[in-house]
Amino acid sequence: MFNDCYKNKRILLTGHTGFKGSWLATWLLELGAEVHGLSDGVPTQPALFEVLGLGSRLHHHLGDVRDFGLVKKTVEELRPDFIFHLAAQSIVKTSLQNPLDTLTTNLLGHAHLLEAVRQLGLPCVMVMVTSDKCYDNREQPHGYTEADPLGGDDPYGASKAAAEIVVRAWQRSFFASQNGPVRIATARAGNVIGGGDWAEGRIVPDCIRAWSVGEAVRLRMPHATRPWQHVLEPVSGYLRLGQLLAAQPEISGEAFNFGPAANQNRTVLDLLTALSRHWHFAEGSEKFKVENSPVFKEATLLQLNCEKAERRLQWKPVLGFEEAAALTGDWYAQFYQNGKANLPEFTLAQLRFFVKTATERGAAWAFDEN
Ligand SMILES: NC(=O)c1ccc[n+]([C@@H]2O[C@H](COP(=O)([O-])OP(=O)(O)OC[C@H]3O[C@@H](n4cnc5c(N)ncnc54)[C@H](O)[C@@H]3O)[C@@H](O)[C@H]2O)c1
Repeated sequence: MFNDCYKNKRILLTGHTGFKGSWLATWLLELGAEVHGLSDGVPTQPALFEVLGLGSRLHHHLGDVRDFGLVKKTVEELRPDFIFHLAAQSIVKTSLQNPLDTLTTNLLGHAHLLEAVRQLGLPCVMVMVTSDKCYDNREQPHGYTEADPLGGDDPYGASKAAAEIVVRAWQRSFFASQNGPVRIATARAGNVIGGGDWAEGRIVPDCIRAWSVGEAVRLRMPHATRPWQHVLEPVSGYLRLGQLLAAQPEISGEAFNFGPAANQNRTVLDLLTALSRHWHFAEGSEKFKVENSPVFKEATLLQLNCEKAERRLQWKPVLGFEEAAALTGDWYAQFYQNGKANLPEFTLAQLRFFVKTATERGAAWAFDEN
Protein backbone atom coordinates (compact mmCIF):
# COMPACT_ATOMS: atom_id res chain seq x y z
CA MET A 1 0.00 0.00 0.00
CA PHE A 2 1.04 3.59 -0.73
CA ASN A 3 4.29 2.21 -2.16
CA ASP A 4 5.51 1.65 1.40
CA CYS A 5 6.32 5.36 1.54
CA TYR A 6 5.38 5.70 5.24
CA LYS A 7 7.44 2.80 6.55
CA ASN A 8 9.89 3.98 9.23
CA LYS A 9 9.05 7.60 8.35
CA ARG A 10 8.49 10.17 11.06
CA ILE A 11 5.01 11.67 10.93
CA LEU A 12 3.66 14.70 12.78
CA LEU A 13 -0.11 14.24 12.98
CA THR A 14 -2.02 17.13 14.53
CA GLY A 15 -5.51 16.37 15.84
CA HIS A 16 -4.51 12.76 16.55
CA THR A 17 -6.93 12.48 19.47
CA GLY A 18 -9.93 13.40 17.28
CA PHE A 19 -12.17 11.16 15.22
CA LYS A 20 -10.37 11.27 11.86
CA GLY A 21 -6.99 11.64 13.54
CA SER A 22 -7.45 8.38 15.48
CA TRP A 23 -8.29 6.46 12.29
CA LEU A 24 -5.36 8.04 10.44
CA ALA A 25 -3.00 7.26 13.35
CA THR A 26 -4.20 3.64 13.36
CA TRP A 27 -3.55 3.29 9.65
CA LEU A 28 -0.13 4.99 9.81
CA LEU A 29 0.92 2.64 12.63
CA GLU A 30 -0.19 -0.30 10.47
CA LEU A 31 1.99 1.10 7.67
CA GLY A 32 5.05 1.04 9.94
CA ALA A 33 5.34 4.79 10.50
CA GLU A 34 6.72 6.50 13.60
CA VAL A 35 3.70 8.60 14.58
CA HIS A 36 3.92 11.73 16.73
CA GLY A 37 0.57 13.27 17.59
CA LEU A 38 0.01 16.89 18.64
CA SER A 39 -3.36 17.89 20.09
CA ASP A 40 -4.62 20.08 22.90
CA GLY A 41 -6.35 17.22 24.71
CA VAL A 42 -8.86 14.45 24.14
CA PRO A 43 -11.93 16.20 22.72
CA THR A 44 -14.73 13.81 23.72
CA GLN A 45 -15.65 11.26 26.36
CA PRO A 46 -15.60 8.45 25.28
CA ALA A 47 -12.98 8.93 22.54
CA LEU A 48 -11.74 6.58 19.83
CA PHE A 49 -8.19 7.61 20.78
CA GLU A 50 -8.68 6.08 24.24
CA VAL A 51 -10.77 3.11 23.13
CA LEU A 52 -7.90 2.08 20.83
CA GLY A 53 -5.22 2.71 23.45
CA LEU A 54 -3.39 4.98 21.02
CA GLY A 55 -1.76 6.97 23.83
CA SER A 56 0.69 4.14 24.43
CA ARG A 57 1.16 3.16 20.78
CA LEU A 58 2.28 6.49 19.38
CA HIS A 59 4.22 9.50 20.68
CA HIS A 60 1.60 11.64 22.38
CA HIS A 61 2.35 15.38 22.54
CA LEU A 62 -0.06 17.79 24.20
CA GLY A 63 -0.12 21.40 23.04
CA ASP A 64 -2.16 24.14 21.43
CA VAL A 65 -1.54 24.88 17.75
CA ARG A 66 -2.27 28.57 18.52
CA ASP A 67 1.04 28.68 20.38
CA PHE A 68 3.64 29.41 17.70
CA GLY A 69 6.60 28.79 20.01
CA LEU A 70 5.32 25.32 20.86
CA VAL A 71 4.54 24.44 17.25
CA LYS A 72 7.99 25.55 16.10
CA LYS A 73 9.76 23.70 18.93
CA THR A 74 7.79 20.51 18.15
CA VAL A 75 8.64 20.67 14.44
CA GLU A 76 12.29 21.51 15.21
CA GLU A 77 12.71 18.58 17.59
CA LEU A 78 10.90 16.05 15.43
CA ARG A 79 12.04 17.10 11.94
CA PRO A 80 9.10 15.13 10.46
CA ASP A 81 9.15 13.64 6.97
CA PHE A 82 5.40 14.21 6.69
CA ILE A 83 2.96 16.51 8.46
CA PHE A 84 -0.77 15.73 8.41
CA HIS A 85 -2.53 18.76 9.87
CA LEU A 86 -6.00 17.83 11.14
CA ALA A 87 -6.24 19.76 14.42
CA ALA A 88 -9.23 22.07 14.34
CA GLN A 89 -12.35 23.26 16.05
CA SER A 90 -14.43 21.06 13.75
CA ILE A 91 -18.08 21.75 14.62
CA VAL A 92 -20.16 24.36 12.76
CA LYS A 93 -22.54 24.90 15.70
CA THR A 94 -19.63 25.50 18.12
CA SER A 95 -18.23 28.04 15.68
CA LEU A 96 -21.46 30.05 16.05
CA GLN A 97 -21.15 29.98 19.84
CA ASN A 98 -17.42 30.66 19.91
CA PRO A 99 -16.37 32.20 16.59
CA LEU A 100 -13.01 33.65 17.65
CA ASP A 101 -11.77 30.37 19.10
CA THR A 102 -12.70 28.64 15.86
CA LEU A 103 -11.02 31.26 13.72
CA THR A 104 -7.79 31.38 15.70
CA THR A 105 -7.46 27.59 15.95
CA ASN A 106 -8.35 26.83 12.36
CA LEU A 107 -6.43 29.67 10.77
CA LEU A 108 -3.39 30.02 13.03
CA GLY A 109 -2.92 26.24 13.19
CA HIS A 110 -2.19 26.24 9.46
CA ALA A 111 -0.15 29.46 9.54
CA HIS A 112 2.00 28.32 12.50
CA LEU A 113 2.93 24.99 10.91
CA LEU A 114 3.74 26.66 7.60
CA GLU A 115 5.82 29.35 9.26
CA ALA A 116 7.66 26.85 11.49
CA VAL A 117 8.63 24.77 8.46
CA ARG A 118 9.66 27.91 6.55
CA GLN A 119 11.77 29.36 9.37
CA LEU A 120 13.48 26.03 10.02
CA GLY A 121 14.11 25.37 6.32
CA LEU A 122 13.21 21.71 6.72
CA PRO A 123 12.35 19.28 3.92
CA CYS A 124 8.80 18.11 4.52
CA VAL A 125 5.60 16.90 2.86
CA MET A 126 2.58 18.72 4.27
CA VAL A 127 -1.03 17.55 3.87
CA MET A 128 -3.23 20.36 5.18
CA VAL A 129 -6.82 19.34 5.93
CA THR A 130 -9.56 21.93 5.52
CA SER A 131 -13.17 21.06 4.59
CA ASP A 132 -15.84 21.10 1.90
CA LYS A 133 -17.28 24.04 3.90
CA CYS A 134 -14.47 26.21 2.47
CA TYR A 135 -16.58 26.74 -0.67
CA ASP A 136 -19.00 29.58 -1.25
CA ASN A 137 -22.13 27.43 -1.01
CA ARG A 138 -24.58 28.63 -3.64
CA GLU A 139 -26.76 25.53 -3.18
CA GLN A 140 -25.80 24.50 -6.71
CA PRO A 141 -26.98 21.04 -7.75
CA HIS A 142 -23.66 19.98 -9.31
CA GLY A 143 -20.51 19.32 -7.32
CA TYR A 144 -17.99 22.04 -6.40
CA THR A 145 -14.65 21.79 -8.15
CA GLU A 146 -11.38 23.00 -6.67
CA ALA A 147 -11.60 26.06 -8.98
CA ASP A 148 -14.91 27.24 -7.46
CA PRO A 149 -14.80 30.36 -5.28
CA LEU A 150 -14.01 30.04 -1.60
CA GLY A 151 -16.55 31.39 0.87
CA GLY A 152 -18.09 30.47 4.19
CA ASP A 153 -21.49 31.51 5.55
CA ASP A 154 -20.54 30.73 9.16
CA PRO A 155 -17.33 31.18 11.18
CA TYR A 156 -16.33 27.53 10.64
CA GLY A 157 -16.61 27.80 6.84
CA ALA A 158 -14.84 31.18 6.91
CA SER A 159 -11.99 29.72 8.99
CA LYS A 160 -11.52 26.85 6.52
CA ALA A 161 -11.64 29.19 3.48
CA ALA A 162 -9.14 31.46 5.23
CA ALA A 163 -6.88 28.47 5.93
CA GLU A 164 -6.96 27.60 2.21
CA ILE A 165 -5.88 31.17 1.35
CA VAL A 166 -3.07 31.10 3.90
CA VAL A 167 -1.71 27.81 2.56
CA ARG A 168 -1.80 29.19 -0.98
CA ALA A 169 0.01 32.37 0.08
CA TRP A 170 2.84 30.47 1.84
CA GLN A 171 3.11 28.03 -1.04
CA ARG A 172 3.38 30.77 -3.66
CA SER A 173 5.61 33.04 -1.60
CA PHE A 174 8.02 30.53 -0.05
CA PHE A 175 7.57 26.96 -1.33
CA ALA A 176 6.89 27.43 -5.04
CA SER A 177 10.15 25.95 -6.35
CA GLN A 178 9.56 22.41 -7.60
CA ASN A 179 13.04 21.48 -6.38
CA GLY A 180 12.38 23.07 -3.01
CA PRO A 181 12.33 21.06 0.19
CA VAL A 182 8.65 21.61 1.02
CA ARG A 183 5.75 19.96 -0.81
CA ILE A 184 2.29 20.98 0.25
CA ALA A 185 -1.36 20.47 -0.69
CA THR A 186 -4.78 21.02 0.86
CA ALA A 187 -7.47 18.35 1.23
CA ARG A 188 -11.19 19.19 1.24
CA ALA A 189 -13.64 16.54 2.43
CA GLY A 190 -16.87 16.55 4.35
CA ASN A 191 -19.63 14.62 6.13
CA VAL A 192 -17.74 11.58 7.27
CA ILE A 193 -19.31 8.75 9.21
CA GLY A 194 -17.67 5.82 10.94
CA GLY A 195 -17.20 4.15 14.28
CA GLY A 196 -15.77 6.07 17.21
CA ASP A 197 -17.08 9.58 16.60
CA TRP A 198 -18.59 11.15 19.73
CA ALA A 199 -18.50 14.82 18.71
CA GLU A 200 -21.53 16.87 19.84
CA GLY A 201 -23.86 18.12 17.12
CA ARG A 202 -23.00 15.52 14.47
CA ILE A 203 -25.88 13.37 13.39
CA VAL A 204 -24.38 9.88 13.89
CA PRO A 205 -22.94 10.46 17.39
CA ASP A 206 -26.15 12.29 18.44
CA CYS A 207 -28.19 9.36 17.19
CA ILE A 208 -26.07 6.68 18.85
CA ARG A 209 -26.02 8.60 22.14
CA ALA A 210 -29.83 8.65 22.13
CA TRP A 211 -30.23 5.00 21.11
CA SER A 212 -27.70 3.86 23.69
CA VAL A 213 -29.98 5.14 26.49
CA GLY A 214 -33.15 3.85 24.84
CA GLU A 215 -34.34 7.23 23.51
CA ALA A 216 -35.46 8.35 20.06
CA VAL A 217 -33.06 10.66 18.23
CA ARG A 218 -34.43 14.18 17.57
CA LEU A 219 -34.10 15.21 13.93
CA ARG A 220 -34.01 18.81 12.80
CA MET A 221 -33.82 18.23 9.05
CA PRO A 222 -34.67 14.58 8.31
CA HIS A 223 -34.90 15.17 4.56
CA ALA A 224 -31.69 17.17 4.18
CA THR A 225 -29.43 15.42 1.69
CA ARG A 226 -25.76 14.89 2.45
CA PRO A 227 -22.93 13.20 0.57
CA TRP A 228 -22.05 10.71 3.33
CA GLN A 229 -18.78 8.83 3.17
CA HIS A 230 -16.94 6.49 5.51
CA VAL A 231 -14.06 8.11 7.41
CA LEU A 232 -11.53 5.75 5.77
CA GLU A 233 -12.34 7.27 2.35
CA PRO A 234 -10.89 10.76 2.97
CA VAL A 235 -8.18 9.21 5.16
CA SER A 236 -7.10 7.05 2.19
CA GLY A 237 -7.14 10.28 0.14
CA TYR A 238 -4.85 12.08 2.63
CA LEU A 239 -2.42 9.15 2.58
CA ARG A 240 -2.49 8.98 -1.24
CA LEU A 241 -1.91 12.72 -1.42
CA GLY A 242 1.10 12.49 0.90
CA GLN A 243 2.51 9.58 -1.11
CA LEU A 244 2.24 11.40 -4.44
CA LEU A 245 3.45 14.75 -3.07
CA ALA A 246 6.64 12.99 -2.00
CA ALA A 247 7.09 11.45 -5.46
CA GLN A 248 5.68 14.12 -7.81
CA PRO A 249 6.68 17.73 -7.08
CA GLU A 250 4.28 18.99 -9.76
CA ILE A 251 1.22 18.43 -7.56
CA SER A 252 2.64 20.64 -4.83
CA GLY A 253 0.49 23.71 -4.25
CA GLU A 254 -2.73 22.05 -5.38
CA ALA A 255 -6.05 21.55 -3.58
CA PHE A 256 -8.00 18.29 -3.79
CA ASN A 257 -11.60 17.31 -3.06
CA PHE A 258 -12.26 13.92 -1.47
CA GLY A 259 -15.93 13.01 -1.51
CA PRO A 260 -18.29 10.17 -2.33
CA ALA A 261 -19.58 9.37 -5.81
CA ALA A 262 -22.36 11.71 -6.94
CA ASN A 263 -24.97 8.95 -6.69
CA GLN A 264 -24.22 8.41 -2.97
CA ASN A 265 -26.31 11.35 -1.70
CA ARG A 266 -28.86 10.24 0.83
CA THR A 267 -31.11 11.97 3.36
CA VAL A 268 -30.47 12.04 7.10
CA LEU A 269 -33.42 9.68 7.47
CA ASP A 270 -31.94 7.22 4.93
CA LEU A 271 -28.71 7.20 6.91
CA LEU A 272 -30.35 6.59 10.26
CA THR A 273 -32.59 3.91 8.79
CA ALA A 274 -29.49 2.14 7.41
CA LEU A 275 -27.77 2.46 10.81
CA SER A 276 -30.83 1.15 12.64
CA ARG A 277 -30.49 -2.15 10.78
CA HIS A 278 -27.29 -2.76 12.77
CA TRP A 279 -28.75 -1.85 16.17
CA HIS A 280 -30.87 -4.03 18.45
CA PHE A 281 -33.85 -2.03 19.72
CA ALA A 282 -36.03 -2.95 22.67
CA GLU A 283 -39.51 -3.85 21.54
CA GLY A 284 -41.77 -0.86 20.90
CA SER A 285 -38.97 1.72 21.20
CA GLU A 286 -39.12 4.79 18.98
CA LYS A 287 -36.10 5.46 16.71
CA PHE A 288 -36.66 9.02 15.43
CA LYS A 289 -38.55 12.15 16.47
CA VAL A 290 -38.81 15.05 14.03
CA GLU A 291 -38.42 18.55 15.51
CA ASN A 292 -39.99 21.46 13.68
CA SER A 293 -37.74 24.33 14.68
CA PRO A 294 -34.30 24.37 13.08
CA VAL A 295 -31.83 25.64 15.66
CA PHE A 296 -29.52 27.34 13.20
CA LYS A 297 -29.17 27.69 9.46
CA GLU A 298 -27.51 24.77 7.80
CA ALA A 299 -26.63 24.42 4.14
CA THR A 300 -28.98 21.91 2.56
CA LEU A 301 -26.67 20.40 -0.05
CA LEU A 302 -22.95 20.59 -0.54
CA GLN A 303 -21.52 18.14 -3.00
CA LEU A 304 -17.95 17.77 -4.16
CA ASN A 305 -16.72 17.05 -7.66
CA CYS A 306 -13.77 14.68 -7.19
CA GLU A 307 -12.64 14.31 -10.80
CA LYS A 308 -9.35 16.07 -10.07
CA ALA A 309 -8.42 13.54 -7.36
CA GLU A 310 -9.35 10.75 -9.74
CA ARG A 311 -7.29 12.21 -12.62
CA ARG A 312 -4.21 13.44 -10.73
CA LEU A 313 -4.07 11.03 -7.78
CA GLN A 314 -5.95 8.04 -9.23
CA TRP A 315 -8.06 8.23 -6.05
CA LYS A 316 -11.68 7.14 -5.97
CA PRO A 317 -14.07 6.30 -3.14
CA VAL A 318 -14.27 2.59 -2.40
CA LEU A 319 -17.49 1.90 -0.50
CA GLY A 320 -21.14 2.34 -1.36
CA PHE A 321 -23.58 4.06 1.02
CA GLU A 322 -24.91 0.85 2.59
CA GLU A 323 -21.39 -0.51 3.16
CA ALA A 324 -20.31 2.71 4.87
CA ALA A 325 -23.44 2.68 7.06
CA ALA A 326 -22.91 -1.00 7.91
CA LEU A 327 -19.30 -0.44 9.07
CA THR A 328 -20.48 2.48 11.18
CA GLY A 329 -23.48 0.72 12.72
CA ASP A 330 -21.51 -2.45 13.43
CA TRP A 331 -18.78 -0.49 15.20
CA TYR A 332 -21.19 1.25 17.59
CA ALA A 333 -23.10 -1.99 18.19
CA GLN A 334 -19.79 -3.58 19.19
CA PHE A 335 -19.16 -0.73 21.62
CA TYR A 336 -22.61 -0.39 23.19
CA GLN A 337 -24.30 -3.74 22.69
CA ASN A 338 -21.57 -6.37 22.49
CA GLY A 339 -19.76 -5.36 25.66
CA LYS A 340 -16.95 -3.36 23.93
CA ALA A 341 -15.36 -6.69 23.07
CA ASN A 342 -11.87 -6.27 21.69
CA LEU A 343 -12.42 -2.93 19.99
CA PRO A 344 -8.81 -2.37 18.85
CA GLU A 345 -8.93 -5.71 17.00
CA PHE A 346 -12.46 -4.99 15.73
CA THR A 347 -11.32 -1.59 14.41
CA LEU A 348 -8.29 -3.12 12.69
CA ALA A 349 -10.56 -5.73 11.11
CA GLN A 350 -12.67 -2.90 9.65
CA LEU A 351 -9.54 -1.22 8.30
CA ARG A 352 -8.41 -4.51 6.75
CA PHE A 353 -11.85 -5.02 5.23
CA PHE A 354 -11.62 -1.55 3.69
CA VAL A 355 -8.17 -2.27 2.25
CA LYS A 356 -9.25 -5.66 0.91
CA THR A 357 -12.34 -4.13 -0.73
CA ALA A 358 -10.21 -1.33 -2.19
CA THR A 359 -7.79 -3.89 -3.59
CA GLU A 360 -10.61 -5.92 -5.16
CA ARG A 361 -12.05 -2.73 -6.67
CA GLY A 362 -8.69 -1.67 -8.12
CA ALA A 363 -7.83 1.37 -5.93
CA ALA A 364 -4.42 2.58 -7.14
CA TRP A 365 -3.09 3.24 -3.62
CA ALA A 366 -3.57 -0.41 -2.69
CA PHE A 367 -0.95 -1.52 -5.24
CA ASP A 368 2.75 -0.80 -5.28
CA GLU A 369 4.05 1.21 -8.22
CA ASN A 370 7.56 1.31 -9.61
N1 LIG B 1 -15.53 14.89 10.80
C1 LIG B 1 -16.02 15.49 9.72
O1 LIG B 1 -17.14 15.20 9.27
C2 LIG B 1 -15.17 16.51 8.97
C3 LIG B 1 -15.65 17.02 7.76
C4 LIG B 1 -14.86 17.93 7.05
C5 LIG B 1 -13.64 18.34 7.55
N2 LIG B 1 -13.21 17.85 8.75
C6 LIG B 1 -11.91 18.33 9.23
O2 LIG B 1 -11.07 17.21 9.47
C7 LIG B 1 -10.22 17.47 10.58
C8 LIG B 1 -10.40 16.40 11.63
O3 LIG B 1 -11.78 16.33 11.98
P1 LIG B 1 -12.31 15.42 13.17
O4 LIG B 1 -13.69 15.04 12.83
O5 LIG B 1 -11.32 14.38 13.48
O6 LIG B 1 -12.36 16.50 14.36
P2 LIG B 1 -12.42 16.24 15.94
O7 LIG B 1 -13.20 17.39 16.49
O8 LIG B 1 -12.85 14.87 16.24
O9 LIG B 1 -10.89 16.39 16.41
C9 LIG B 1 -10.25 17.63 16.43
C10 LIG B 1 -8.82 17.43 16.89
O10 LIG B 1 -8.16 18.70 16.89
C11 LIG B 1 -7.59 18.91 18.19
N3 LIG B 1 -7.60 20.35 18.47
C12 LIG B 1 -8.66 21.18 18.52
N4 LIG B 1 -8.26 22.43 18.83
C13 LIG B 1 -6.90 22.37 18.99
C14 LIG B 1 -5.90 23.33 19.32
N5 LIG B 1 -6.20 24.62 19.53
N6 LIG B 1 -4.61 22.91 19.38
C15 LIG B 1 -4.29 21.60 19.17
N7 LIG B 1 -5.19 20.67 18.87
C16 LIG B 1 -6.48 21.05 18.77
C17 LIG B 1 -8.47 18.11 19.13
O11 LIG B 1 -7.79 17.85 20.37
C18 LIG B 1 -8.70 16.87 18.30
O12 LIG B 1 -7.55 16.06 18.37
C19 LIG B 1 -10.58 18.87 11.05
O13 LIG B 1 -9.72 19.79 10.43
C20 LIG B 1 -11.99 19.06 10.55
O14 LIG B 1 -12.33 20.42 10.40
C21 LIG B 1 -13.95 16.94 9.47
